[in-house]
Amino acid sequence: MSKNLSARIIGMGSYLPKRVLTNHDLEKMVDTTDEWIVTRTGMKERRIAEPDEYTSDMGVMASRKALEDANLKPEDLDLILVATLTPDYVFPSTAALIQDALNAKEAAAFDFQAACSGFLYGLSIAKGFVESRMYKNVLLIASEKLSSITNYKDRNTCVLFGDGAAAAVISGEGEGYEISQVCLGADGNVANLLTLPAGGCRRPPTHKTIEANEHYIAMEGKELFKHAVRRMETAAKKCLEMAGMEENAIDWLIPHQANDRIINAISKRFLLSEQKVFKTVHKYGNTSASGIAIALDELMQEKDISSGEKLLLVAFGAGLTWGASILTRRLDG
Ligand code: ACO
Repeated sequence: MSKNLSARIIGMGSYLPKRVLTNHDLEKMVDTTDEWIVTRTGMKERRIAEPDEYTSDMGVMASRKALEDANLKPEDLDLILVATLTPDYVFPSTAALIQDALNAKEAAAFDFQAACSGFLYGLSIAKGFVESRMYKNVLLIASEKLSSITNYKDRNTCVLFGDGAAAAVISGEGEGYEISQVCLGADGNVANLLTLPAGGCRRPPTHKTIEANEHYIAMEGKELFKHAVRRMETAAKKCLEMAGMEENAIDWLIPHQANDRIINAISKRFLLSEQKVFKTVHKYGNTSASGIAIALDELMQEKDISSGEKLLLVAFGAGLTWGASILTRRLDG
């Protein structure tokens, strides 16, 4: 009988566009101040893709690094998954464009959308495919060009978002980070709190929708804030419970990088010291699905994580969607 596989991340990479948009730059664009942005969000700057740099391009850059880290070639991939709410086109999928750019000839490819929880939803999809032995090597990409749907005349939203990508190679064996548990959830009843009102089949693009700025992110920040803290706490607790783990067994917390105050509220509830909470929100802002994956990549590069250490990832996003995952460092292959 073949032994059970446990899906794990065996390679990781990220990509951030070069252009930096600082709070001081934003002060010249809308009625805001560096002080307001820092105290309300913790953000100091964010990255913005070039006009001709797209979600697929950023995804390809991150994927090449992840493949190199995993010591695999594009032709070793069986499936490419892309989490994004800013695809290059409605169709074809961004995953298909990335498959072509990487020359991953035989790999299946599709996009899926769970907003900022996308990377965690993707871990769950990849885990299922790998552990059922349907696919051996899965490339999970989170890539977002949020600047393409951000209204830079709306101070309520434009200070919050940035662009970037990250990719993870997920396989059934090898040294890496085992996906020990994933727990997902959603509540479509409050879908109205964060939307892109036009551009879909309900409100196809017209001059009217464009004049009304309906192709930009529309958000009820205060309400979202409350849901974010509550949902992330519940998801993380449920995930720990499903894994049969105590809260103090967590070595690192990597929350969705939406807002420093949300992150601090979650950290307090888990009684984690600041040193154990990994953040990139100050330098990249909120990059939706990519945020938690970029942070994970930086944590892996910057910290010396020993065998057996546990990482708790937790996110929420439009939908609303949320999720949590426990990763365990495995050096034993
Ligand atoms: N500069 C100055 N003033 C601003 C700015 C700005 N950039 N943006 C809003 N304001 C004003 C508003 O107009 C409002 O003014 P009013 O009271 O005169 O109407 C006031 O500031 C609101 O201030 P606060 O109540 O202090 O704002 P709050 O503490 O709620 O912070 C924020 C706002 C940062 C948006 C917060 O609510 C938040 O982070 N919410 C969650 C947002 C989020 O995470 N969204 C994404 C989640 S899903 C995903 O990641 C895709």
